[in-house]
Amino acid sequence: MSDVGTIMIESGIGVLTIDNPPVNALGFKTRKAIFDGFKTLEADDRVQAIVLICGGRTFFAGADISEFGMPFQQPDLRVVLAALERSSKPLIAAIHGTALGGGYETALVCHYRIAVPSAKVGLPEVHLGLLPGAGGTQRLPRVVGVEAALDIMTTGRPVPAKKAKELGMIDALAEEGKLREDAIAFARQILESAAPLVRVRDREDKIAPARGTPEIYAAFLEKNKRAFRGFKAPANIVAAVQAAAETADFDAGLVREVELFDELMASSESAAQRYYFFAERETTKIPTVPSATPKVDIIQVGVIGAGTMGGGIAMNFLNIGMPVTLVETSQAALDRGISVIRRNYEITAQKGRMTQGQVEQRMALITPALGLEALAEVDLVIEAVFEEMDVKKDVFGKLDKICKQGALLASNTSFLDVDEIASVTSRPQNVLGLHFFSPANVMRLLEVVRGEKTSKEAIATAMALGKRLGKVPVLSGVCFGFIANRIMTPYTAGAMNVLLEGGTPEDVDAALVSYGFAMGPLAMLDLVGLDVIGRESSERTIPSELVKLGRLGQKQNGGFYDYDEKRCATPSPVAAKIVADLSRDLGVENKGTRSAEQIVAQLLYPVVNEGAKVLEEGIALRASDIDVAAILGYNWPIYTGGPMFWADTVGLSKIVEGLRAAGIEPAALLVRKAEAGEALAR
Ligand code: 3HC
Ligand code: NAI
Repeated sequence: MSDVGTIMIESGIGVLTIDNPPVNALGFKTRKAIFDGFKTLEADDRVQAIVLICGGRTFFAGADISEFGMPFQQPDLRVVLAALERSSKPLIAAIHGTALGGGYETALVCHYRIAVPSAKVGLPEVHLGLLPGAGGTQRLPRVVGVEAALDIMTTGRPVPAKKAKELGMIDALAEEGKLREDAIAFARQILESAAPLVRVRDREDKIAPARGTPEIYAAFLEKNKRAFRGFKAPANIVAAVQAAAETADFDAGLVREVELFDELMASSESAAQRYYFFAERETTKIPTVPSATPKVDIIQVGVIGAGTMGGGIAMNFLNIGMPVTLVETSQAALDRGISVIRRNYEITAQKGRMTQGQVEQRMALITPALGLEALAEVDLVIEAVFEEMDVKKDVFGKLDKICKQGALLASNTSFLDVDEIASVTSRPQNVLGLHFFSPANVMRLLEVVRGEKTSKEAIATAMALGKRLGKVPVLSGVCFGFIANRIMTPYTAGAMNVLLEGGTPEDVDAALVSYGFAMGPLAMLDLVGLDVIGRESSERTIPSELVKLGRLGQKQNGGFYDYDEKRCATPSPVAAKIVADLSRDLGVENKGTRSAEQIVAQLLYPVVNEGAKVLEEGIALRASDIDVAAILGYNWPIYTGGPMFWADTVGLSKIVEGLRAAGIEPAALLVRKAEAGEALAR
């Protein structure tokens, strides 16, 4: 029929199989194959019922995101779905893998849906800053009810088949591995029992209870206002569902959905989130390390240091069932580290997200040890000891003598020179940085630091391993702070400058919160503890002055703010005086109050500038890797697309001017791109 669609007729059941790797996205070819295949089967008198099934690893994963922003070639998805929905013969969607977005919307226009237990279904468009735009907002509430539909579409969470069956998102479960046979048998059963051709659009049972209760939508938005802040899509999803419930005319509801969809498609938030979707999938593509590069088998790992980072790093491996040898310098430190790991798992178990049996299984994978000798047989070592070059060199020198040949030796250092660490070993090709972010068991960013001599095999292994751990690995070259910490260093510095120039902590934090960060930089420093940055400064800085007076942040005497017993922040006259005194002593000119926009520019333009330097020095492979690092490492608001993408939105000339006005030399790359009218990230 076509290279994407095939049809077969088995004793009266027509089976339309679509196979368009990798994920059967509903691009032009796929849509056309569905449309043509369906028409052929519908017109064939031998066919009494039709099964729509996919080949390859998954049912349709949704609209083809790479086609967005371009005119759709006909038939567009809505046309295809309208044709399927009018089918005069029973039409059954047979689902494996993931039926997502337009994929699940396709299933929703079929009369019945059957799935294997391992399948998942959902409408994740919200993650692209969109809403389900092929009828999903109108049909889902008709199969699961308004409340469940709001939850599924605003979280974008895929629903596992068993749960989907309970909710009514699918009608039947097939046996794993026997989807095709079971779907055909299901179709036959429908024919034999003369079951009705259920069109979701005609269903009233689930949606009726919500009719005439317009107050639930505002209440839903209010309840979720923290999670939805800054995003445009949730409100439009809610409005579309409201239209579904309040407009008895299904087609009028569809028209409203299209309006709300188009509005999102034109928004900068969605453009940023769609950019991010591909950015995250791009990070492992390294031109000098082809995907076929051989990898080291990682079966056992060693983690050195069971402190804040070591414990969290170890958990990543335990979570995928990999044994970890955990090394410390004293029994007390080892016991403490292991008990923190246990406590973390126990908390997860208390929340019902893990069984006690699983807790014990994971804990049993830990081999505690007090000497590096225990690491002789592991395939990968991750060092997470104190951030001191001498300590790290000592550890790596010993590892070189102890570890088997071929083992990878990684450091979790935040700032230190990986090449210098590698230089004390006889195998620098096997040494690299694996920089996790705190809390290491939660944060998805993993910077893979490539030293001057790190081998391709080591990098390929680390990238693949990062993915196995559920992380997003980003390649970084060696420099102070690698990508994320380096680009964000000017952020904190910028905040201090605003204070010295007469701005208040409240103004600074409010400006960055309104930009989209969950917390402002100063409230964040108070939370983390000022001793972390103010301790070792030889110069007089605001943090060091605060620390000198015993103000360590929330944990002791307040920091930039005062705190009451409920940890509520109030402006601090003491901190204000410390800042004013320092500003006077340093002779900083008072620039008075400034707008939120000016504060954002003062803090974030230098981040963009540092990002441009990281790019021109080749520390990062591409601008989008920097954006991924900022978004996943520092919770940079995703709907801005990250610093590089955002810079393009602002305009590079404006950023160059802003930097110059602040006395900061713009990166050559930034100037060049601004002059050429080119973009950094797009
Ligand atoms: N459009 C275009 N390309 C897609 C795609 C899509 N919907 N989904 C995945 N891809 C591409 C990826 O970019 C990747 O390409 P690459 O190999 O060149 O990097 C390849 O397919 C494989 O994807 P993953 O690496 O993500 O594979 P996984 O196996 O890890 O995950 C998945 C598979 C769960 C299907 C995941 O890809 C996914 O979540 N995809 C997006 C699902 C989605 O958001 N669907 C909604 C689209 S919007 C829509 O449908 C609008 C409609 O309402 C009108
Ligand atoms: P930490 O002080 O909490 O833990 C370090 C642990 O290493 C201590 O338990 C110590 O007893 C142990 N240790 C020291 N020398 C050792 C040796 N020779 N052999 C075995 N164990 C030894 O420190 P943290 O915060 O876990 O940091 C560890 C490393 O991770 C540092 O390089 C740090 O820069 C880096 N890092 C820290 C992050 C953070 O947010 N804390 C984030 C990312 C990286």
